[in-house]
Amino acid sequence: MSHDLDRRTFLAGLGGIGLGTLLPAREVGAQTSAPSTQPNQGLPVPAGTEYRKPDRPVTCVIIGHGNRGSYYGSMTKQMPDDWKVVGVAEPIGYRNEAAVKRHGIPEDVRFDTWERVFDREKFADVCVISTPDDLHYGPAMAALERGYDLLLEKPIAMTWQQCKDIHGLARKRSAIVGVCHVLRYAPYFVQLREVIASGMIGDVVSIQHLEPIEQIHMSHSFVRGIWRNTKIALPIILAKSCHDLDLLCWFIDKRCTRVSALGSLTWFRKENAPSGAPKMCLDGCPVEKTCAYYAPKVYVTEKLFGTGHIVTEDRSDKGILEALKTSPFGRCVYQTDNDQPDHFVSTMEFEGGATAAFSMEALTSYGGRRTRVMGTKGDVVGDERTLDVFLFAPRKRITWDVTKATADDLGGHGGGDTRLVRNLTQAVARRDLSPLSTDLGRSMESHLIGFQAEASRLAKGQPMVVDLARELSV
Ligand SMILES: NC(=O)c1ccc[n+]([C@@H]2O[C@H](COP(=O)([O-])OP(=O)(O)OC[C@H]3O[C@@H](n4cnc5c(N)ncnc54)[C@H](O)[C@@H]3O)[C@@H](O)[C@H]2O)c1
Repeated sequence: MSHDLDRRTFLAGLGGIGLGTLLPAREVGAQTSAPSTQPNQGLPVPAGTEYRKPDRPVTCVIIGHGNRGSYYGSMTKQMPDDWKVVGVAEPIGYRNEAAVKRHGIPEDVRFDTWERVFDREKFADVCVISTPDDLHYGPAMAALERGYDLLLEKPIAMTWQQCKDIHGLARKRSAIVGVCHVLRYAPYFVQLREVIASGMIGDVVSIQHLEPIEQIHMSHSFVRGIWRNTKIALPIILAKSCHDLDLLCWFIDKRCTRVSALGSLTWFRKENAPSGAPKMCLDGCPVEKTCAYYAPKVYVTEKLFGTGHIVTEDRSDKGILEALKTSPFGRCVYQTDNDQPDHFVSTMEFEGGATAAFSMEALTSYGGRRTRVMGTKGDVVGDERTLDVFLFAPRKRITWDVTKATADDLGGHGGGDTRLVRNLTQAVARRDLSPLSTDLGRSMESHLIGFQAEASRLAKGQPMVVDLARELSV
């Protein structure tokens, strides 16, 4: 856990998490040695950890070959010396078949459900757990019992007690567990964190952080999709925003002491359904031409969102359209069984008095997290692309643009997805947690804050204590 490490080790191991590993040296160098006309001049360069080619590829079995699982699997192409998929568990036939074909998986290690993986002896280094939220706990515990390391999708598990169980077993087994808080590996967030950790803006006094989900994304994931209801997914503050809580903990680098939250589901409700709207968009909706969320428009004619979650083997427009007749993604957004809030504001206090105000907003036309960090000697304003750093005493402004700082294609989650897997393979090959910015211990704090924030929201904003040391007895 971050708090078990002294600050120096923390910065060496985390602040520079893998940037040396992750970005070719010339790119990191470009940030330090850029001529004075370059907009990124003057910002501290995150220290990197040296990339060491493993003796053999780290092998994994993917549990849940859906969107995330197949993405992690696809990284074998980018890192054939480091990462190899040797087994799969996936109940949906065409997704299972896709894994088998892509990775040449033999029949005896191809399973239709996660339980079967553990009927046999350990046959890979890592279990990738990329099943839906309510199916993390079972496979994570079984995998740790069998001696696997984990690449564990966030959120860790459905309850705080389950998170503690997984954490306890991982510690007992000395397992390497990378939690997929991928943003910690994205060059933009690594740079923002480095600005703060370097002390150039002094001590952090407060942070304002906004996560604009974007209305179509909200309708897809948290109204129609697998995270729409807290019976099958975690509350949105964890299902979506555990990334943001984790970033705030990483930036402030002190323990959170209390949290309070407010929020509700305002718009995607039955009473807001247009008059005469059927439950499924394709059942003759009278407002199909004017509705912002008409499913065929979202997924086929205007392609406003990806179709990866829509289960159908026929991936053509025709196939998707056919699937929308019965798929949850074809439902009227005002008439599903959703209960996730579409606005959620929370405030946190950290040891020493720093505060953070966090807003998750569904009804935005834009995505991209906005962050304002107020320090004693300067401030930072960021929008997931640029950082605008202002230093009070010299009255100096430095603007840094992530697209100018990295030469490679950033890819999923601002480059975080690829870099997480690369760093996990380094950690597993070396039996050393330090390449991982997001090992399980570090991820527990954001989860505790999330569970307490939801408890506070349900108690109409009553402040809740966050005491990780007591919870984990460390
Ligand atoms: N790190 C991130 O930023 C990020 C982003 C999106 C999703 N996620 C998380 O990743 C996880 C997966 O999300 P997704 O978008 O890939 O969902 P998905 O529905 O595309 O994939 C989940 C897969 O698990 C499979 N599955 C269901 N039951 C199973 C069983 N018994 N055994 C094995 N496999 C089973 C499903 O058939 C499906 O293919 C979720 O927990 C989600 O919250 C994380």
